[in-house]
Amino acid sequence: MLLTKNVEEKYNITRQTLYNWVTKGVISEPLKDEKSRNIWSEENQKEIERILNEKEQLSLDLQIPEKLHIQNRRYLGSKQKMLNFIFDVVSKNTVGVETIADIFGGTGVVANMFREHGKSVIVNDILYSNYTSFVTWFGNEPIDEKKVEMAIIELNDLKGIDGYVTKNFGNRYFSVENAQKIDAVREKIEDYTDFNLREKSFLITSLLYAMDKGANTVGHYDAYRQKMDSLKPLTLRMPVVNHSTNNEVYNMDANLLVREIKADLVYIDPPYNSRGYESAYHVLENVAEWKKPEVEGLAMKAVNRSEKSSDYTKRKAPEAFDDLIQHINSKYIVVSYNNMAKKGNSRSNAKISNEEIILSLEKRGKVTVFETDFNPFTTGKSIIQNHKELLYLCEVGAMENA
Ligand SMILES: C[S@@+](CC[C@H](N)C(=O)[O-])C[C@H]1O[C@@H](n2cnc3c(N)ncnc32)[C@H](O)[C@@H]1O
Repeated sequence: MLLTKNVEEKYNITRQTLYNWVTKGVISEPLKDEKSRNIWSEENQKEIERILNEKEQLSLDLQIPEKLHIQNRRYLGSKQKMLNFIFDVVSKNTVGVETIADIFGGTGVVANMFREHGKSVIVNDILYSNYTSFVTWFGNEPIDEKKVEMAIIELNDLKGIDGYVTKNFGNRYFSVENAQKIDAVREKIEDYTDFNLREKSFLITSLLYAMDKGANTVGHYDAYRQKMDSLKPLTLRMPVVNHSTNNEVYNMDANLLVREIKADLVYIDPPYNSRGYESAYHVLENVAEWKKPEVEGLAMKAVNRSEKSSDYTKRKAPEAFDDLIQHINSKYIVVSYNNMAKKGNSRSNAKISNEEIILSLEKRGKVTVFETDFNPFTTGKSIIQNHKELLYLCEVGAMENA
């Protein structure tokens, strides 16, 4: 006969998992001793061993839904559909590029494409939620995959609790049940004290991606749908594990970062209009940081978000862009842009013009522009025809007629 704490130690499972199994009827209820403590008989232990063995044999992929990939999320301005174009331009027009810095990383899909082609990457974003997923996808720290997978199974099994998310975002961005689940999962992640930073990031990333899937929104958190129709229960998936040894991840203002790093090529994809990412993704930012700030307004945004507000969404964007370009230490600079400029509604208007980009880049070297057709991205209802997605390639130090 073993007490619960002995069972936890013997099988490296938590009390919660045991009780979940009992509630679901997969193992029998333990007996009680004279002090009313649960005691686990030989029979109970055999049942536990059977489940653990089955879990081993069944392949954990069956226990946890399909693995999670970096691109399995919605994100404003994601370059997922542009990856071939970017890769083509870079591979055909550059030489000796081994290290690439993606300093407005967003989802990280551009950096990931280069990583898959064997490059070392430096990935950065001003949002902590994005940084957390960079640690997952690009981190060098080894992780105990089995331990993380077991934790994801446990998190998926948790019963919801009322907490910060339920109070502020329940019945708004998420169904009450899903909000309670997010509360339970996020609190539980805090309890895993023997997880390294990357292992914890795996769990938080998995939660952030599950939230994106279950959110009652069109993909960002400026507003939620009036009718709550996102009732599917939230499910966490195990992120695929990338084994890297020489990447770097940062959570900094890009203008400060470029003063500190060196790469063969720096890729630049800043916000180009007045929409702030700290505002559009405030719910994810909140859950990633878990500082539980006071929120305000209909959209329930954190009261103090200003430290993450970007110069690139303001009037001083051209100045910030020029400062950035002049401080880059690399052989090549590649800038993503689209020809929305002054078309469309005011919120979609670009804060930096095509001419301003070229002027800044030409101070550093020879500039070539590449273009491709792309679906319009607007923040409102306006649809722009003949929308083009552009890439500016600057060969640093090269002269125009050289
Ligand atoms: C257009 S999105 C990048 C999309 C990304 N290329 C992708 O494919 O997912 C711009 C990103 O820049 C980040 N950002 C805005 N201002 C920043 C700054 N000053 N420094 C670093 N990142 C910033 C935003 O949080 C956002 O994720």
